[in-house]
Amino acid sequence: MELELRGITKRFGAFTANDQISLKVEPGQIHSLLGENGAGKSTLMNVLFGLLRPDEGEILIDGVVTSITDSGEAVRRGIGMVHQHFMLVPVFSVTENVVLGFEPTKSLNRVDYRQATEDIHRLSRQFNLDVDPDAIVENLPVGLQQRVEILKALSHDAELLILDEPTAVLTPQEIDSLMEIMRSLAAAGKSILFITHKLKEVKAVADVITVIRQGRVVGTAEPSASESELASLMVGRDVRLTVEKTPYDPGDEVLEVRDLVVLDDRGLVAVNGVSLDVRAGEVLALAGVQGNGQTEFVEALVGMRPVQSGTITLHGRDITNLTPRQALDVGLGHIPEDRQRDGLVLTMSVADNLVLNTPRRAPFARHGTRNLSAVNENAQRLVRDFDIRTTSIQEPASSLSGGNQQKVIVARELSRSLEFLVASQPTRGLDVGSIEYVHRQIIEHRNRGNGSLIVSSELDEVLALGDRIAVMYEGRISGVVDPTASRESIGLLMAGHTTETASV
Ligand SMILES: Nc1ncnc2c1ncn2[C@@H]1O[C@H](COP(=O)(O)OP(=O)(O)OP(=O)(O)O)[C@@H](O)[C@H]1O
Ligand SMILES: [Mg+2]
Repeated sequence: MELELRGITKRFGAFTANDQISLKVEPGQIHSLLGENGAGKSTLMNVLFGLLRPDEGEILIDGVVTSITDSGEAVRRGIGMVHQHFMLVPVFSVTENVVLGFEPTKSLNRVDYRQATEDIHRLSRQFNLDVDPDAIVENLPVGLQQRVEILKALSHDAELLILDEPTAVLTPQEIDSLMEIMRSLAAAGKSILFITHKLKEVKAVADVITVIRQGRVVGTAEPSASESELASLMVGRDVRLTVEKTPYDPGDEVLEVRDLVVLDDRGLVAVNGVSLDVRAGEVLALAGVQGNGQTEFVEALVGMRPVQSGTITLHGRDITNLTPRQALDVGLGHIPEDRQRDGLVLTMSVADNLVLNTPRRAPFARHGTRNLSAVNENAQRLVRDFDIRTTSIQEPASSLSGGNQQKVIVARELSRSLEFLVASQPTRGLDVGSIEYVHRQIIEHRNRGNGSLIVSSELDEVLALGDRIAVMYEGRISGVVDPTASRESIGLLMAGHTTETASV
């Protein structure tokens, strides 16, 4: 498909999210949209997919001006979108999900599942998707669920696929396979609009890069441009891609975890006897392929999941099995993995979300009465310091871009006085400029002599922040290494080798 956007403008009230955006996507092209958080990328994609109506501008498909009034229309016109939050029904099979809403019928009211299953087999083979049509979606890892979304689009003859931050939730291995799939789709003539904040990925697959800043196209770049060139084009200034740290000078143990056992949602052992110490002035980075117990481990630390056995102490005080409220009160900061579920109340204002943990405390309330001006001053300050892009602090958090929602959580957690920080994927979905800022904040927290546990599936982040790196595999710690360890040796630990066999 040849797609052309001409002068697309989209306003939300007085705010212009897309300002005269024009771009062209050729058949078989992987076209990458690069831009900072809140630049207007998702808005533009929602316009293209018929989820938002543009105020101005035209969409041309194969040279013909086309009005896309809703997403059904977009699908009929050959446009498919893989949403970042998957739209699949967990208890349905792959086939059932693929046909959902578009059931092929033999007679008028009989769904032809056999035909659908054959289609899935064929597409799955053609594009190396390797998806079992009979698998139940909730049993599939995230990377495969995403392929089901891709299959769903392909089965409706999508000629142009929109992938809005598809890699944010994937493991490095899953990312590599997705890149392969994208290449084979492009080779078959499909066009792809690809959004990511990871410059390496852009360089690896994009044919063309369009850079958007504050709703406008500010230029195009060649995939051969360096990461720092791309970064500065995106944010309009130089970005330091490495974190500067003062020398590692740890104090006493702050957090001590002994023989922790925690179950997952299905009642199976997810954390299988983990012992760890984190010291004052130290960042302990917890690396590992997602799904090896990191999520359950963190939830147990912050009182969101019961501990079966073992102990957690903070400054020598037993904090095993606290309630989330008590965890807050002892000074545990938490940046959760799932920001929309655990980090924000989307319907509440940005200002309220910024005091979500301490709404009934001074200075935000006195004798049970809210101190509105303190709440608002706090919000103004954090919005400025953390560069949270919002038209107003009274806007609901739901109206913020994905990256800006993440910044609200990070700002809230890092701005209160903490005894210990637990952060899961703290920079997921953030642009390079914001990553720089958040990393600096985490390091400053460390330099003030505090302990932190940072869980990340990004090896770059683990290596940049960690004073020591613990690797988790199948519910156990497979090794603890220095940040000078090679990527290969950490990779081996992530695959289940122990420190001895990985020879670090
Ligand atoms: N429904 C809405 N109402 C008001 N403002 C909105 C709405 N949707 C988006 N915006 C604003 O439009 C701007 C662009 O948001 P968009 O989601 O397109 O950004 P993005 O480039 O996708 O950013 P990110 O990289 O963080 O995902 C943001 O500043 C956001 O606050
Ligand atoms: Mg977005």
